[in-house]
Amino acid sequence: MKRILKWIFRIVLVLLVLGFLWGFISYWRSSSDCDRQTAAPTNPMKAIVHCDYGLTNLKLQDIEKPVPNDDQILVKVRAASVNPYGWHFIEGTPYIMRAMGVGLRKPKDIRLGVDFAGTIETVGKNVTQYKPGDEVFGGADGAFAQYLCRRATGSVAPKPAGLTFEQAASVNIAGITALQAVRDKGKVQPGQKVLINGASGGVGTFAVQIAKSFGADVTGVCSTRNADLVRSLGADHVIDYTKEDFAKNDQRYDVILDNVPNHSLSEIRHSLTPNGKYVMIGGGGPNDNRWVGPFGRVIHTLVLSPFIGQKMGMMMAQPSTQDLTLLAEMVQSGKLKTVIDRTYKSLSEVPDAIRYLEEGHARGKVVITVE
Ligand SMILES: NC(=O)c1ccc[n+]([C@@H]2O[C@H](COP(=O)([O-])OP(=O)(O)OC[C@H]3O[C@@H](n4cnc5c(N)ncnc54)[C@H](OP(=O)(O)O)[C@@H]3O)[C@@H](O)[C@H]2O)c1
Repeated sequence: MKRILKWIFRIVLVLLVLGFLWGFISYWRSSSDCDRQTAAPTNPMKAIVHCDYGLTNLKLQDIEKPVPNDDQILVKVRAASVNPYGWHFIEGTPYIMRAMGVGLRKPKDIRLGVDFAGTIETVGKNVTQYKPGDEVFGGADGAFAQYLCRRATGSVAPKPAGLTFEQAASVNIAGITALQAVRDKGKVQPGQKVLINGASGGVGTFAVQIAKSFGADVTGVCSTRNADLVRSLGADHVIDYTKEDFAKNDQRYDVILDNVPNHSLSEIRHSLTPNGKYVMIGGGGPNDNRWVGPFGRVIHTLVLSPFIGQKMGMMMAQPSTQDLTLLAEMVQSGKLKTVIDRTYKSLSEVPDAIRYLEEGHARGKVVITVE
């Protein structure tokens, strides 16, 4: 028995050493294709690139202007918006993301930005739904640039005529997240009581309006300075979190949409009806729990869910042309307003825009005009 234990111990030790060595070698061998992408472009355009992790490593640089393939459109970007989503790639946090393919030591993908609005410059030969000159908006990798290529059938839609490029660029991630949270995860029904924690941010300002358009009785949680804004978006009740904690009163909600996971799951359960639904949207800031980020809380909700009547879970918004088109229609018909906090005037100001977003108190969306 002693000998068997000794051998098991030795095997585990060897595996640990090999694992450590493998991690060490992978870490130092991991690289980005920064040198290739930034080497003397023949047809240059300006783009924000990051060859190393960290906000201070963002640079506005000349890189090769992309060429669309047969199924793609080439868009001249007129505006882009920033999202908390982006700062995880900028900082490489939570670190677990690096091991999941984002790049161990350096970011694998050196381009940043997703949400955009712009004008189509050229289309691939298989593209029939768009033509040069069309104005579009949506999501694509590398939106912090003068040009981007996007599959024409991807997450892109015609820009509503009544919207500026800045307004249209504010819709994609925040709008789709809010729509899918209300409709697909929360399954909000008319008359239900819905609480939106973080009602005045990018996702929250859309979620309040969408939940209201589904006929819900909406409570928005925000700070004093944003109470009027949240009310003007249609919230029936506003809780000022600087004065009152929603988890400490006796009110119960059918659905809680949580952009700011600043309450424990037992506090959340206390505020839900017995069959209520908790939709965890936000995962905290870039510096919250730098190793595993929101994953600990996600596992906690998954473990808890089967044993209780309430439904608890995290959502991951999915890119969707249909949802983008639906949001465009809602905006066009006046059912949905875009709320823009600040507009930065050029790509060189992307780091400032992200720094402002990181403070965690944006009022609606933060947008960049791309010259
Ligand atoms: N799961 C997904 O698929 C998905 C998709 C998109 C976004 N997200 C996540 O969702 C979260 C929200 O995104 P966002 O774009 O809305 O972020 P955001 O625009 O930066 O949200 C900022 C808002 O949060 C509010 N806030 C800060 N502290 C608060 C508190 N203690 N109580 C209530 N509100 C508070 C702020 O209001 P005050 O100024 O009044 O404090 C501010 O208006 C982020 O964590 C993001 O990563 C997840």
